[in-house]
Amino acid sequence: MAQRDILIVDDDRQVREVLHQIFVAAGYNCLLANDGREGVEVFKAGRPQLVVTDLKMPGMTGIELLQQVRAADGDVAVIVLTGAADVKTAIASLKLGAHDFIMKPVNMDELLIATERALERRQLLIDRREYHDLLERRVVEATRDLASAYRQLQETYHSTLEALGSALDTRDVGTEAHSRRVHGYALATAHEHGVPEPDLPDLAHGVLLHDIGKIGIPDAILLKPGPLTPEEWKVMRRHPDIGKALIERIPFLRGAVPVVWSHHEKWDGSGYPRGLQGEEIPLGARIFMVVDAFDAMTFDRPYSKAKPFDVAKAEIKRCAGAHFDPSVVRSFFQVPDALLEEVRRKSVEP
Ligand SMILES: [Fe+2]
Repeated sequence: MAQRDILIVDDDRQVREVLHQIFVAAGYNCLLANDGREGVEVFKAGRPQLVVTDLKMPGMTGIELLQQVRAADGDVAVIVLTGAADVKTAIASLKLGAHDFIMKPVNMDELLIATERALERRQLLIDRREYHDLLERRVVEATRDLASAYRQLQETYHSTLEALGSALDTRDVGTEAHSRRVHGYALATAHEHGVPEPDLPDLAHGVLLHDIGKIGIPDAILLKPGPLTPEEWKVMRRHPDIGKALIERIPFLRGAVPVVWSHHEKWDGSGYPRGLQGEEIPLGARIFMVVDAFDAMTFDRPYSKAKPFDVAKAEIKRCAGAHFDPSVVRSFFQVPDALLEEVRRKSVEP
């Protein structure tokens, strides 16, 4: 059974004694005090669940006592005892947090019923608050779990895409780790270009998957050692459209469509598949164009030897305004060579 301690505060010794006997007979433990000040002290030392107090006492009144014990313990139940002359004060005490008031002379049954009711209500309030706290804690935990699951999911997406990008690279002979490098160059350039942080994941996904449409190109064309015929080029040039069709229905990849679809568009409108011009070309694709060309020139391929960074950059500068967005070229040139070197080095690490 829960603790049932009652503090009785009354300056009238006889009343105190009677109340004491009533409560002890009903199975409660009692603490006694003969005025408000002592009542507060005994309360703080003993922490009873219920205080039964007279209103009119010398020194500290029952109302002041009520306020002080409730300040010390917001859960404490308080019943005030009042003479007929003081009913107004008793009603006011309810507003200050008293659970009930009992008219003097005290009726034993009425007092015990009020006591039970006050203790029950106190327990109910505590249970409700604990339940509320428990729910709040669960919400906090669930939110934290959800955030961590989301982070894990994002990481999984990213590594899946990286793996897919690498798989695509290995189909094109000699372009190993191309996607990983271009990904690094593109993010560095996007950063210099002031692309907002929330737009970066879509850009990154687009860069990693830019050639995913090549899955739909026959090996005879994709892996052909010699130059392609005009007919074969026509097939090859379908890979951005194929790529778009592949990913646009996958919700978390939809943001990659602009880069995948437009990664062969040129600033002067001479690209494909749509012949977009200037800023009609999505920014992500314009960034990709520059860094893709840079990687193609600075990494050994079966039919071309790698050029030094400055030679590749001069070539890119020459094509700014024709193939490339001049402002993106400027941003790319702001990326320090040391950072480009690091991306290159890391791309071939296992
Ligand atoms: Fe491509």
